Amino acid sequence: MAKDFDSMEDSNRSSNPSIHEVSDPARRVVLRLGSGTAFGTVLSAAFGGLAAPLAGCATAGSSLSGPSMGFKSVPALMADKVTVPDGYTATPLAPWGEPVGIAGQMPAFKFDASNTAAEQAVQMGMHHDGIHFYALDGSRRGLLCLNQEYTDDGLLHTTGQTPWTLEKVRKSQNAHGITVIEVELQGSNWQMVRPSRYARRITALTPFRVGGPAAGHALMKTAADPEGRTVLGTIGNCASGKTPWGTYLSGEENWANYFTAADVPTAHEKRWGVRKATWYRWPEHDERFDAVRNPNEPNRFGWVVEVDPMDPTSTPVKRTAIGRAAHEGAWVATTKDGRAVVYSGEDARFEYLYKFVSRDKIAPAGNGKTAAQANAELLDHGTLYAARFDANGTGQWLPLVHGQGPLTAANGFADQGEVVIKARQASDLLGATKMDRPEWLAIDPNSGWVYCTLTNNSQRGTPNNPGPDAANPRANNTMGQIIRWKEEGDFSGERFEWNHLLLAGDPQATRAEARGNIKGDILSGPDTLAFDPNGLLWIGTDMSGIGKGEMARMGNNALFACNPVSGEVRRFLTGPMECEITGATWTPDGRTLFINIQHPGAGVPRDGTGNPRQFSNWPDFNPVGRPRSSTIAIRRRDGGVVGS
Ligand code: FEO
Ligand code: CA
Ligand code: CA
Repeated sequence: MAKDFDSMEDSNRSSNPSIHEVSDPARRVVLRLGSGTAFGTVLSAAFGGLAAPLAGCATAGSSLSGPSMGFKSVPALMADKVTVPDGYTATPLAPWGEPVGIAGQMPAFKFDASNTAAEQAVQMGMHHDGIHFYALDGSRRGLLCLNQEYTDDGLLHTTGQTPWTLEKVRKSQNAHGITVIEVELQGSNWQMVRPSRYARRITALTPFRVGGPAAGHALMKTAADPEGRTVLGTIGNCASGKTPWGTYLSGEENWANYFTAADVPTAHEKRWGVRKATWYRWPEHDERFDAVRNPNEPNRFGWVVEVDPMDPTSTPVKRTAIGRAAHEGAWVATTKDGRAVVYSGEDARFEYLYKFVSRDKIAPAGNGKTAAQANAELLDHGTLYAARFDANGTGQWLPLVHGQGPLTAANGFADQGEVVIKARQASDLLGATKMDRPEWLAIDPNSGWVYCTLTNNSQRGTPNNPGPDAANPRANNTMGQIIRWKEEGDFSGERFEWNHLLLAGDPQATRAEARGNIKGDILSGPDTLAFDPNGLLWIGTDMSGIGKGEMARMGNNALFACNPVSGEVRRFLTGPMECEITGATWTPDGRTLFINIQHPGAGVPRDGTGNPRQFSNWPDFNPVGRPRSSTIAIRRRDGGVVGS
């Protein structure tokens, strides 16, 4: 979603030093001035040729020059359509409101948005985001598991929030969460398989088990759940990761905005951005989201959740060992000895990057258990770390372990459960690096480098906020950057080396900090990030202020391919008006790319007074309809591998 930070709390007021304060002043000046040439010169001098390991690590499936891009860039367009290169097709699939395919419960979408809350509970949720393909029959049939991040009440209801009722709250709650659908390639077109025994909706009302050190913790107990082990629902589900054992990980991101607090929030609420104002008005009809009445309910959100898409009867789990955050998502690497390493970050200004190393090895399927069932508790035991990026191009993972360093009862952490529930406060004490809004991560299967989009941070360097540092090198960072690192020894290593793949921007920008150093097509607001089966890195954007000011030449939000070795960037797709591009997943053969078009036509007033079609009417262009978020399936007309 596009974040309206004017209505959000800037909650990281910790005093842990930023890199700005410990880095070399002379070098910092160059970083601040930040022309592409000067920045590159400084990097190569300071980091002693870190580009070399990238090329040197290239293995089978790649080359010293990286994967090839066999398409011609599309221009930076602003039009109410999806544009892809010549020779490609992009076909909408499973937009908001389509019945997911539960037998006997397949109500048709009503273009005037008059479907009921009960109907919404068995239809596609509203704003598609992270997504993964799970093969059932090679690259011809499989499941798509995807997140529905939030609702736009000006489009969700026929009359918006006027009047505001319990039925509308329930419809909004039922349009959130995670969806599983079955899809099949028929000829050259993907279709939903309906009914399907796999079809499933997980909403803001679905029971979740709590796993890990916060399970049963006093801070997780509520009147409705005195055991603190069962939470209703997941919200703000943004990005996603697919585990080696076949499950789906989803991050709860903007959960704080669903709650209301007292006029003066507690210090804990304030640190997490829970305050009186609420974006979604749920507390007016659902007391659970009133933190004055239910002060522990917010602690039950902000987790990475795990779903087994192959088993529609399975209970989804909140994995608290990975830490509580405004989680964008979670991505898994495997150590040489077979343990899982889960990378995650939180998309909030001046917040942190995390990794979790499992205690146990990933178990194989067997003895009557699927791999998902064999690893049902894998993510409940291990070590959580926060990242510190040092100015010399190395970094340190700082353990969030109760009893170590400052994480003691004397400092407000009674046990490991309290450490993970208060992961932000713990990271403050450890001196983790305050980042420019970490969004997606991606692990290069060829080189082992880990990449992360830092989408933007216009507050960097403003009064009372941290200034630029080596990892987040620009004040008033409207453009964002992509950082990458390589762990020392293995993914479980506690030290790493790092550099930037790119600083986003427009070389023609008036302001030096907005120019960036992109080799190829310009972009801003990098968000989605994923490697395809051939090692190309795909970048989806979510910039704000489209078509204006420093974004004037960027076009609509778009999807780019990048050669991670050379750094070359090409624009592959532009989206319809007011959308962002989210998610990216491939069939195993690389011949279909599924992405999501999220919130086309956003900006219609929530009170229902505006024409729902005033900004976009994609993808249906129904004269009495409204824009709908949708997955799209992208294929080459000649059936070849996408992007190559
Ligand atoms: Fe939901 Fe951070 O984008
Ligand atoms: Ca995102
Ligand atoms: Ca974003």
